[in-house]
Amino acid sequence: MAKAPIKVAVTGAAGQIGYALLFRIASGAMFGPDQPVILQLIEAPFEKPMAALAGVAMELDDCAFPLLKGIVQTSDASVGFKDANWCLLVGAKPRGPGMERADLLKDNGKIFIEQGKIIDAVAADDARVAVVGNPANTNCMIAASQAKRLTPDRFTAMVRLDQNRAQTQLAQKAGVDLTEVKDIFIYGNHSPTMFPSFAHATIGGKPAAGVINDQAWLEGPFLETVGKRGAAIIAARGASSAASAANALVDHVRSLVTPGAIHSVAVKSNGLYGFDPEVWAGMPVKTTTPGSYEVITSYEMDDFAKSKIAATNKELVDERSFVASML
Ligand code: NAD
Ligand code: LMR
Repeated sequence: MAKAPIKVAVTGAAGQIGYALLFRIASGAMFGPDQPVILQLIEAPFEKPMAALAGVAMELDDCAFPLLKGIVQTSDASVGFKDANWCLLVGAKPRGPGMERADLLKDNGKIFIEQGKIIDAVAADDARVAVVGNPANTNCMIAASQAKRLTPDRFTAMVRLDQNRAQTQLAQKAGVDLTEVKDIFIYGNHSPTMFPSFAHATIGGKPAAGVINDQAWLEGPFLETVGKRGAAIIAARGASSAASAANALVDHVRSLVTPGAIHSVAVKSNGLYGFDPEVWAGMPVKTTTPGSYEVITSYEMDDFAKSKIAATNKELVDERSFVASML
C-alpha cells in the first residue's frame, strides 16, 4: 500500500539553498523513493521573495515529480508549519556590512523565537526540526527554548556540511577514495571554532592519523581548511555555499530517518563531551528509530581535542549569553 504523504515545511524556500534543496526533497532523495511529500514553503512577507517562491513552485510543478503531492506557498508561519512532520529552518537574516555578530544573533533570535513558538503550537505531534540558517546552533537553541510540547531532542542543527568537508579533505590528503574515510565527526559550533575529531577517524579501517602520518597537517591546515571552508566559498563565489549546504541537509535528515546511521548532528549537549549542558553542540549520534537518535558517548578525547572542544564550547556559551534576555 502506498505511504501517506509527509508534510515538510521549509523556510527561506526561495533562497539559494532552497533552490538547491526542494527539488531533491521532491525527488525522494531525503525521505526515500517510496515516501510522498507535501512541501509547505515559507518565505519572508515581501513581494520579491514571494514572487520568486511562485516561480520555484512553477518549476517544481514542471518537474512532474511522482512523489510530490502538494505545494503550499505562504509567508504565514502558522500556515506553513501546520501539521508539519519536518520543519527545515533555512531562512535567516544574512550578516550585513558592518554588522556585529551580536546584532546578527539578536535579529535572527527574533525570527527563531517566533518560529519555535509557532512550530510548538501547530506542527505535527511527531515534528522534527532541522536548523540551517546561521548561526545555526544558537538559532536552534533559541527555537527549542520556546517549545513546551516538543522536547529538545526534536531540535537539531546542521553540522553535516562540516563532516562532509572533513571527509573529503582526509581522503584527498591520503589519496584514497572518499568511501574509505569513516568516523570523522564534528564537535561544537558550525563556525571556524568547530572541531573535526581526526583522532577517531579511520581510513581503510586503520586510524587516519597513522595513514596520513602528518600530525602537523592534521592539527593545522586540516582544521583550518574545514573550519574556514564556508568563508573560502563566499570569497570565491561571492555568495555562501548553497548546493553543498542543501546536499548536507539531505544527508542530515536522511541519516536521521535511517536507523543505524552514525553521523554528526548538533544537539542539546546535556553536558556531554564537556559542553555546557544548555548549548547545542555538534557530536556523533546513532539513529535509533526514524527521527530519534542517541549520542555516542564512547569517544575518549586527548588534551588537544579537549582544548579545541573548550574553545568551541566557549563560543557557544558566549552566543547563548548574547541572546539570554530573549529566551
Ligand atoms: P538566501 O539569502 O539566498 O536565502 C534566505 C531566504 O530566507 C531568503 O529568500 C529570505 O527571504 C528568507 N527569509 C528570511 N527571513 C525569513 C523568515 N523569517 N521566514 C521565512 N523566510 C525568511 O540564503 P541561503 O544562501 O539560502 O542561506 C540561508 C542560511 O543558511 C543563511 O543563514 C546561511 O548563512 C546559512 N547556511 C548554513 C550552512 C550550514 O552548514 N549550517 C551552510 C550554508 C549556509
Ligand atoms: C558555510 O559553512 O558554507 C556557511 O555556513 C557560511 C556562511 O556564513 O553562510
